[in-house]
Amino acid sequence: MSSTLSRPLILATSILLLTIPALAVEPQPDAEPQPVTVIQAGQLVDVEAGRVLDRQTIVIKGETIEAVGTDLAVPPGATVIDLSHAVVLPGLIDSHVHITSQASANYYEEMFRRSFVDHAILAHLYARRTLEAGFTACRSVGSQGFVDVALRNAIERGDVPGPRLQVAGYYISSTGGHGDLVGFSPWLTTNGPPEMTGIADGVDAVRQKVRYLVKYGADVIKFGASAGVLSEEESVGAPQYSQEEMNAIVEEARRWGRRACAHAHGTEAIKMAVRAGVVSIEHGSLVDDEGLALMKDNGTYLVADIYNDTYILAEFEKLGFPAHIIEKERKVGRTQRENFKKAVEAGVKIAFGTDAAIFPHGKNARQFSYMVEWGLTPMEAIQSATVSAADLLGWGDRLGSVAPGKLADIVAVAGDPLDDVTVLESVGFVMKGGVVVKNELE
Ligand code: ARG
Repeated sequence: MSSTLSRPLILATSILLLTIPALAVEPQPDAEPQPVTVIQAGQLVDVEAGRVLDRQTIVIKGETIEAVGTDLAVPPGATVIDLSHAVVLPGLIDSHVHITSQASANYYEEMFRRSFVDHAILAHLYARRTLEAGFTACRSVGSQGFVDVALRNAIERGDVPGPRLQVAGYYISSTGGHGDLVGFSPWLTTNGPPEMTGIADGVDAVRQKVRYLVKYGADVIKFGASAGVLSEEESVGAPQYSQEEMNAIVEEARRWGRRACAHAHGTEAIKMAVRAGVVSIEHGSLVDDEGLALMKDNGTYLVADIYNDTYILAEFEKLGFPAHIIEKERKVGRTQRENFKKAVEAGVKIAFGTDAAIFPHGKNARQFSYMVEWGLTPMEAIQSATVSAADLLGWGDRLGSVAPGKLADIVAVAGDPLDDVTVLESVGFVMKGGVVVKNELE
């Protein structure tokens, strides 16, 4: 017994004895020298301070920003990118996308003739378009078949271009809820094997679902606190989980080091989800004053997709969406915008999130002008998609501003976004992690 116990010890000691001197004397091969890039920015949006700085030099080593300042010396051998006639900003962040799908075909075709395998075939295109539009990071809050996990990994490996992704895997929903297949024959089931869904009911089952999602790669947990618009439940806002179930989801997510967010249009469901401890309320359409006060007190972000009403009412009839779904949109769209404005006035934290997938990926920046129309200044709208979204994702230490120590995710536009925020719809320069993805500005 004692000899078996001591054998590994002896082994470990002899390995140590053999390796330590070797490490000490053998010179290590030099690490690849990191490329140095310098961006000469005509103007730089300092999102932390909420101001614009003129003539800034940004020094980037490898994937990291090393220094930012006026007239810094250009290190020898550096590649210089001349954006002296452009406005430079941190890479944009969309905290609510569904990166693996897009409403581009007929409603029934999409629902019944396509599966997550079709999503997997096309998802890399959506990722690329999103990145080229200046969105260097996204939180993707619902996908099928763990296609989002595979896409995130492929992007991280450098196999396909795309934004840094934080993904949810399946979106957790109650039976008959927004994430279930509602309104059809009981003989139709959701896409894929029965256990491969986000459907879970009851405290134990929702805990198990969180563990299942974490097991297969979810970074963040998303659940449906209330009914929705683009689904066939009768209501837009009725709560779809009990308080106990919501508490269990958030608590279990935390146990595994994950943040939870809630799809919630409904007045009561929003409050229940905030009380459960979510980091963000998605949509937030029918929030009341008490809900806003609760969000403010808890530091809960509002992620309101206020561009979608315009797109859905213009396009979704053509896609064959049932009339009662379009009717739900008519009931909720304007109220969502009015309540977004109230949230801004109440001082609730706002993070940019669009629900891209409803409209084509890459058009995410269309939402900025709606946010300005409904209460934000252009600077605040930009902050919502940079420093605030990075904070919501828990990536504030690495992303969200152009500052020393942060990853070099940087974009630039030809016009002044503080004067006209729609210039963000045509981002001309994109850098992710120090690598130029697109440069039409030099
Ligand atoms: N995914 C959301 C839902 O179906 C989209 C809501 C779109 N409408 C809007 N006014 N934001 O509930």
